[in-house]
Amino acid sequence: MLIAKSWSRTEIFYWLLPYLLLIAAVALVLFLIVVYALHLYAKYSCGMYAEETRMEGKTVVVTGCTSGIGKETAKELAKRGARVVMACRNMEAAEKIKDEIIESTKNNKVFVKKLDLTSFASIREFAADVIKTEPRLDVLIHNAGYAETFLKGVTMDGLEMTMQTNHYGPFLLTHLLIDLLKKSAPSRIVVVASSLYRLASVNLENPNPLTSLPAYVYYQSKEANILFTRELARRLEGTGVTANCLHPGLIDTGIWRSVPAPLSWGLSLINKMFFKTPEQGCQTTVMLAVDEKLENVTGKYFSDCQESTVSASVAEPGRARKLWEISEGIAKLEITDPKI
Ligand SMILES: NC(=O)c1ccc[n+]([C@@H]2O[C@H](COP(=O)([O-])OP(=O)(O)OC[C@H]3O[C@@H](n4cnc5c(N)ncnc54)[C@H](OP(=O)(O)O)[C@@H]3O)[C@@H](O)[C@H]2O)c1
Ligand SMILES: *[C@@H]1O[C@H](CO)[C@@H](O)[C@H](O)[C@H]1NC(C)=O
Repeated sequence: MLIAKSWSRTEIFYWLLPYLLLIAAVALVLFLIVVYALHLYAKYSCGMYAEETRMEGKTVVVTGCTSGIGKETAKELAKRGARVVMACRNMEAAEKIKDEIIESTKNNKVFVKKLDLTSFASIREFAADVIKTEPRLDVLIHNAGYAETFLKGVTMDGLEMTMQTNHYGPFLLTHLLIDLLKKSAPSRIVVVASSLYRLASVNLENPNPLTSLPAYVYYQSKEANILFTRELARRLEGTGVTANCLHPGLIDTGIWRSVPAPLSWGLSLINKMFFKTPEQGCQTTVMLAVDEKLENVTGKYFSDCQESTVSASVAEPGRARKLWEISEGIAKLEITDPKI
């Protein structure tokens, strides 16, 4: 004891150093094991839709199939024999993906039609084209989505970019195609929402949030997806058309591309380690589109191929109805458009 007291700080440091290094090494190894276990958990815990339900004779419209979840959804439905209409804004990319899908699935009933959700005129042209060329529509999948972190965008219709792409555009498109869906009943509408809706709620006093932070508007738009689906299901009761929405999981896709550096560096590492692949990400969408047991299920929210609950604010009945009424004005529904 007496001897130890006379040690200098430097001596104590050097004496302790090997132990400190050993502790640090053990901690690092433990950390890596935990990270790897989480990685394996993320990889294998995900719900995969195992049924082989076929879709011959059925027509499906999928929006936004040039990337991510939509591309895999279109491919999986083509594999099951459906007639697939890819609704995309980038025709060149879409045609290339269409060729790949036809080649890999040997189903040549895959078509591309132009749809830009940031333009109500484009949505009307697309819907008119579908009504002209498609005698039936069994499933409408609202998959296309847009997310921006900081950059504010305004559409040619004067609306906040994220809200129009993710909510007002799909709202109008649903109206324009509803008669075709009803004629083809039993038929389905599937809305790709996100569990991130919990981070925000739509401000019904400011439904065109031009000055809000775009990342926040993205969360709002995903809450709008859920409110829309629930009100849509309510209004469609008894028509044979169902409407359900889903959270696809956290998926390594293009949706994260607007996150700026250096945040994006960390994010892309997390993406690769813990997020699911687009093939895994399309599972719940595909299940909602094809599963026979879900024929009469409507107005529900799914995650990981299972029904899930929604937050109390979304379940509040008045909000969904109010958003619907506001959306009718903002999406410029015309008197001659089908009413839902
Ligand atoms: N990835 C996730 O972790 C995650 C989580 C929860 C929910 N989601 C939802 O999943 C859906 C699919 O997203 P993703 O992750 O697959 O992202 P993605 O890779 O960015 O794909 C989005 C698709 O939407 C299309 N799109 C965007 N704006 C459009 C517009 N104005 N008109 C027509 N198409 C448009 C894109 O076309 P371009 O190629 O032309 O841009 C692309 O094909 C979105 O609704 C998203 O909110 C994703
Ligand atoms: C859905 O409802 C219809 C009509 O009531 C019924 O014939 C059908 O069996 C139901 N489907 C399922 C999977 O419950």
